[in-house]
Amino acid sequence: MHHDSIAVVDFGGQYAHLIATKVRRIGVLAEIRQPEDPIEAFAGYRGIILSGSPALSSHGEDSEYTKALYSLDIPILGLCFGHQEIAKHYGGEVIHGGREWGHADLHLTKADHPLFRGLDPVEQVWMSHFDSVAAVGEDFEEFGYTTSRDGSPDHRLAAIGSDVHRRYGFQFHAEVDDTLHGDRMFANFVLDICGCEPTWSMEAFIAEEREKVREQVGDESVFLLASGGVDSTVAAVILRDALGPDRVNLLHVDNGLMRKDESKKVVALFERLGLGEHLHFIDASDDFLDALAGMTDPEAKRHAIGQTFVDVFNREAERLGIQHHLLGQGTIYPDTVETGGTKRADTIKTHHNRVAVIEEMIAQGKVVEPLAELYKVEVREVGEELGIAHEALWRHPFPGPGLGVRCLCSDGTPDTHDFDRLVPETAAAAEKFGLEPLVLPIRSVGVKADIRAYEHPVLLSGDADWDTLLRAGSSITQHVLGINRCIWNLGSEHPSAARPVEGYMTRDRLDLLREADDLVMSGLREYHLYDEIWQCPTVLVPLALGDGEKGELIVLRPIFSKRAMTATPVRLPDALLDDLRASILGLPGVTGLALDITSKPPGTIEWE
Ligand code: XMP
Repeated sequence: MHHDSIAVVDFGGQYAHLIATKVRRIGVLAEIRQPEDPIEAFAGYRGIILSGSPALSSHGEDSEYTKALYSLDIPILGLCFGHQEIAKHYGGEVIHGGREWGHADLHLTKADHPLFRGLDPVEQVWMSHFDSVAAVGEDFEEFGYTTSRDGSPDHRLAAIGSDVHRRYGFQFHAEVDDTLHGDRMFANFVLDICGCEPTWSMEAFIAEEREKVREQVGDESVFLLASGGVDSTVAAVILRDALGPDRVNLLHVDNGLMRKDESKKVVALFERLGLGEHLHFIDASDDFLDALAGMTDPEAKRHAIGQTFVDVFNREAERLGIQHHLLGQGTIYPDTVETGGTKRADTIKTHHNRVAVIEEMIAQGKVVEPLAELYKVEVREVGEELGIAHEALWRHPFPGPGLGVRCLCSDGTPDTHDFDRLVPETAAAAEKFGLEPLVLPIRSVGVKADIRAYEHPVLLSGDADWDTLLRAGSSITQHVLGINRCIWNLGSEHPSAARPVEGYMTRDRLDLLREADDLVMSGLREYHLYDEIWQCPTVLVPLALGDGEKGELIVLRPIFSKRAMTATPVRLPDALLDDLRASILGLPGVTGLALDITSKPPGTIEWE
């Protein structure tokens, strides 16, 4: 069947693929295209959407793409970098400045335009940019401007357009869920402005995926790494349906980085799903802990974990006599894009299922990943369609490297690079909110304007309501370059100092983290928050607060999200925080407790 379709030009922004997903959900086929694809590759589309990018439009970066697409007589919508490129192409000016992260309010100055049909005069939108449009060319006008919630000056030209050229631009990311009515904006563009008929469906996509699996696997079988998480469980069921149970073997590996009693629960889950017969279980915690011994660098840890998975997998396949198999993985789209797996995307962090040895196997066609095009929310929809039980589908996502990315390590050397600037700038930014800041001499991973940001967190102390805390967090990360995270001190005093202590990936530290994590998970269940919250990593940071020589800081990271590409922090009830203060600060060795109040961007969900 012929479907009307839209081309999404992937400039390497973290959300390019999400644009395609959002368009497909409207019922219109969207296909990803590369910016240098020949102009013929754009024939037949009813419209084009240009994505964001880690490149700076103001500096002329990544400007060698197929500009001939601007001469096509179809509508084009640009987002972030795409918006800036459109402005520039038609005689406008883009400057390096006016950066914003996170929520902003879009005030529509052209609210009656079809692009904004059904929207309010002020809409919540999501920002992540360094550059901005300072002026537009002759046929263009401002469609909207934004105000930030921290009181910064207005950002003009946040939405622009020209009906003469049928070119439109949004500085904000309409594709992320935090732009509350982004779906409506896409529907207006795709259906009204491009005139597409919505004929595409998710069921069609699932059927195609099954067929692809059969074709790829041929007469061989699949050996799937099954963590028991949502993705690998749904992947297991798709593979079983496509190939039959006898050609799908599952391997559950206890890598020593699992939650408390997790492996027992996973084995029970697969038995309930009727997949128990082909499930193999191996305790490989020694292999993983040996591979991680003495490591502190987050990327090195991630590579070691990914490599050890492959080593254990090969060893087990041989031991069990499973031959002629392909490696099955429950990889979903964010794993690829955050690893820098699309042509231009920056490596935010290497997901365990995207390390070099697996990339080589993918190139040889040896890896089957039926969910690689989907986001978590779609995976859950597929799972529901396949009849998988609610409890299996709605577990909190748990990363493949498990507690490995939540257990920070240090050789004890303070990381105080640039503190002469960071400390006073942070103090000035925090003062406005009546909070006391302490820049921490360690770093965690984040993402800013589509680029990996390995930067310092700030611990904030003081009494403030939730709104003030969020505004303070967003203002500090926005105005102080080098800070990507703010956490709120739940301890009784503001510590005068913080120093990293030696701490590696050892069983003792992981056991401590497991205990703290278990207390948090039980607390969320007790307060009926487990289903409401998307994920709540508990993080162990080898940091002594105050005068202490020893200690560990525990950070709670409850967030709301839908697709994990963006996230907002969650306020936990005071009574739950009191319970956790009492129980976690009572764990041996724990001397500090804090709540992460950072959105993504600029912080990622996990700390590493
Ligand atoms: P970040 O930390 O990048 O996480 O904001 C986004 C989502 O991905 C999960 N995550 C992973 N999942 N392998 C996975 O299967 C990984 O290496 C990995 N790293 C992060 C994370 O828990 C969150 O849900």
